[in-house]
Amino acid sequence: MLSKAVLSTSLLSALVAAAPKPQVSGYANADASFSVEYPTGTPAASFGPDSQIAAQPTQSGSAYPRVSADPTGATSHGPFSGTPTTTGAAKAPATLGTAIAPLPPNPTATYYNTNGSPQNPMPIPYTPAGGLGTNGSEPRYMVNSDFDYESIQLGLYQEWIELDLFNNGLAVFSEEDFLEAGLTAEDRAYIAFMAIQETGHASLLTNMLGETAAPQCTYDYPFRTVREFIDFNQKLTRWGESGVWGFINHLDSREVGQLLSQSIATEARQQMSFRQMLGLHPMPVWFETGIPQSWAWTYLAPYISSCPENTTRLAWQNFPTLHIVNQANPNRFSPNDTKPNEVAGNRIADPADSTIPADESCVGVDPLENPGYSCAPGIVRNRSEPLSFPGKLVNLTWEQPGQAVGPNNSYITATSAGTPVFAAWVSQLNLTYTPLTMTGNNTGYTYQPSSEVYQGDPAANDTMFLAITDSNPYLTPFNLSMINPHVVALGLYQAG
Ligand SMILES: *[C@@H]1O[C@H](CO)[C@@H](O)[C@H](O)[C@H]1NC(C)=O
Ligand SMILES: *[C@@H]1O[C@H](CO)[C@@H](O)[C@H](O)[C@H]1NC(C)=O
Ligand SMILES: *[C@@H]1O[C@H](CO)[C@@H](O)[C@H](O)[C@H]1NC(C)=O
Ligand SMILES: *[C@@H]1O[C@H](CO)[C@@H](O)[C@H](O)[C@H]1NC(C)=O
Ligand SMILES: *[C@@H]1O[C@H](CO)[C@@H](O)[C@H](O)[C@H]1NC(C)=O
Ligand SMILES: *[C@@H]1O[C@H](CO)[C@@H](O)[C@H](O)[C@H]1NC(C)=O
Ligand SMILES: *[C@@H]1O[C@H](CO)[C@@H](O)[C@H](O)[C@H]1NC(C)=O
Ligand SMILES: *[C@@H]1O[C@H](CO)[C@@H](O)[C@H](O)[C@H]1NC(C)=O
Ligand SMILES: *[C@@H]1O[C@H](CO)[C@@H](O)[C@H](O)[C@H]1NC(C)=O
Ligand SMILES: *[C@@H]1O[C@H](CO)[C@@H](O)[C@H](O)[C@H]1NC(C)=O
Repeated sequence: MLSKAVLSTSLLSALVAAAPKPQVSGYANADASFSVEYPTGTPAASFGPDSQIAAQPTQSGSAYPRVSADPTGATSHGPFSGTPTTTGAAKAPATLGTAIAPLPPNPTATYYNTNGSPQNPMPIPYTPAGGLGTNGSEPRYMVNSDFDYESIQLGLYQEWIELDLFNNGLAVFSEEDFLEAGLTAEDRAYIAFMAIQETGHASLLTNMLGETAAPQCTYDYPFRTVREFIDFNQKLTRWGESGVWGFINHLDSREVGQLLSQSIATEARQQMSFRQMLGLHPMPVWFETGIPQSWAWTYLAPYISSCPENTTRLAWQNFPTLHIVNQANPNRFSPNDTKPNEVAGNRIADPADSTIPADESCVGVDPLENPGYSCAPGIVRNRSEPLSFPGKLVNLTWEQPGQAVGPNNSYITATSAGTPVFAAWVSQLNLTYTPLTMTGNNTGYTYQPSSEVYQGDPAANDTMFLAITDSNPYLTPFNLSMINPHVVALGLYQAG
C-alpha cells in the first residue's frame, strides 16, 4: 500500500528518537529498563543466494480437490431480464406460527462458581467436566438440522459471490486504475489471494452440505471505479462476516460451527484489509456485530442476477430496502458535505460515489502533509472529521414490499411489520432504538444514537446495520433474530 513508500528509513529513525517521551497519558513510570543499539550501515540492495540450509524434497497436490478451480474461462455479468420459473423463499410443508414466543431462561442454565475451583468430577486429569462434543463421540462435520442447512447454504451463496467479485475487480480495472487508487501490484496480488481463499471456503461449505449444495451464480455489480470496488468489498464482507456471527452459536452441529469459525476468521481479515485499502479505520469498534440470516440474505440477493437451473433455494426473508439519503461518503475529507443519495446506484449496499470533484476528495490528500484528511490506503487513517457522529440527523426512505429481487428475480421482498415507529441500530454488542419521525409516505428521519457499549466505546461505528421497525422489543446478541417480524425495511449504515 501507499504508506509503505512514504515510510522511509529516515522517518523511522526520527520516530525512534522521539520514543522516550511519555506517549500514554495517565500511564506513569513506564521507564524502559532496556537499551538497544541500532545497527548502522546502508539498507540491502542485492538479494540472494542465501545459505543452503537442511531440508528434504516434498510433494504437494494430494489434498482433497476444491469445488471450483481458479478461473479458467469466460464469465458473464449484468442484470437478469427473463421470467422466473419459480418464486418465493423455500418452505417446509408446514409453518407453525408467525413469531417466536419469549420464554424464561433455560432451567438448566444455572452454573455459577463461587469458590474458583472445579465443582464436578473430572472425566480425566486436567480436564474439567462439561462442554459439548467432549465425551469422545466421533465428530460429524455435516449440517444437522434445517436451521444448519439453510444457514450454511446462505454462507455458500456468500462465498461464491466473493470468489467472483474479488476476481472481477482485478479483471475489469487496469494496473493504472489501481495505482490511481493507491493500490500496487502487491495489493492486487493480495486481492487475488483472497479470491483463492474463497475457493477453499466454498469447498468446505459444499462438503458440509452434500449433494444439494448451491453452485456459483451470475452476478451484477454496482461499482464503476477501483474505489467503488473496494468500498463494495468492505460492505459485502461486513455482512458476510456479521451474518455468520449471527447464527454460528445457534447451529445444531458444533462440528460445522468449528470449521465455519475457522473460515470466518479469514473473512474478518479480508473485511479489515478492504477498509484499510479504502483509508478507513481498520476496526473502529471493540466488538464485531452479528445479524440474522434474513438480514444477510437481504443485503446479498440484489447482487445475484441468476443461478443455474435447479439451484437450491433459500428459506430466508428478503426485507424491503431502506435507503440512507445522507449516507456519509468515505471519499470525502469532509463527510458533512455529502450530497443526498451520493451513491453509485440505488440498491441496498451500493458503494459511495467516488467521482466527486478532486478538490473535495480525500483520495489524493497526502497523509503526511495533512494527517486526518487523507483516505489513501494505509494501515490506519484517523479521520479528523468523522464520517458520522452521535446526534446526526439521518434522512431515510424505504421501498414498498413485493419487489422481485435476487437470482432470476425469483424472491419477493416482504415484511410482516406494522406502521414504522423506530429506527433500530445494530452494531457491536448492541441494538439501540431511536424514534422515527415520518415526513411522508415511506420517508422520515431519525438521529444517530449516542449509546455506548461500555464507557468510552460509542456503539454506532464501522459499517453497521440499520432497520426501521414497528416496535422496540429488548433484544441482545443471542436473541436478535426475534426482531424479524418487526422489521419494516433494512439498510446498511456507514458510521465510520
Ligand atoms: C432477549 O434476551 C434478553 C436477555 O439478554 C431478554 O431480557 C429479552 O427479554 C429477550 N427478548 C425477547 C423478546 O425474548
Ligand atoms: C456425548 O455428548 C453428546 C453431546 O455433545 C451427546 O449428544 C451424547 O449423547 C453423549 N454421548 C454419551 C454416550 O453420553
Ligand atoms: C467512532 O465514532 C466516533 C464518532 O461517533 C469517532 O469520533 C471515533 O473516532 C470513532 N472511533 C474510531 C476508533 O474511529
Ligand atoms: C435463471 O435464468 C437463467 C438464464 O435465463 C436460466 O438458465 C436458469 O435456468 C434460471 N434458473 C432458475 C433456477 O430458474
Ligand atoms: C433439474 O432437475 C430436473 C428434475 O430433477 C432434471 O430433470 C433436470 O435434468 C435438472 N437439470 C439440470 C440442469 O440439472
Ligand atoms: C459537521 O456537522 C456537525 C453538526 O452540525 C458539526 O458539529 C461539525 O462541526 C461539522 N463538522 C465540521 C468539520 O464542520
Ligand atoms: C485523530 O482525530 C481526532 C479527531 O477525531 C483528533 O482529536 C486527534 O488528534 C487525531 N489524532 C491523530 C494522531 O491524528
Ligand atoms: C432531511 O430531513 C430533514 C427533516 O425533515 C429535512 O429538513 C431535510 O431537508 C432532509 N434532507 C434531505 C437531504 O432529504
Ligand atoms: C401518500 O400516499 C397516499 C395514498 O397513496 C396519497 O394519497 C398521499 O398523497 C401520499 N402523501 C405524500 C406526502 O406523498
Ligand atoms: C450494550 O451492550 C452491553 C453489553 O451487552 C450492555 O451492557 C449495554 O447495556 C448495552 N447498551 C445499550 C445502550 O443497550
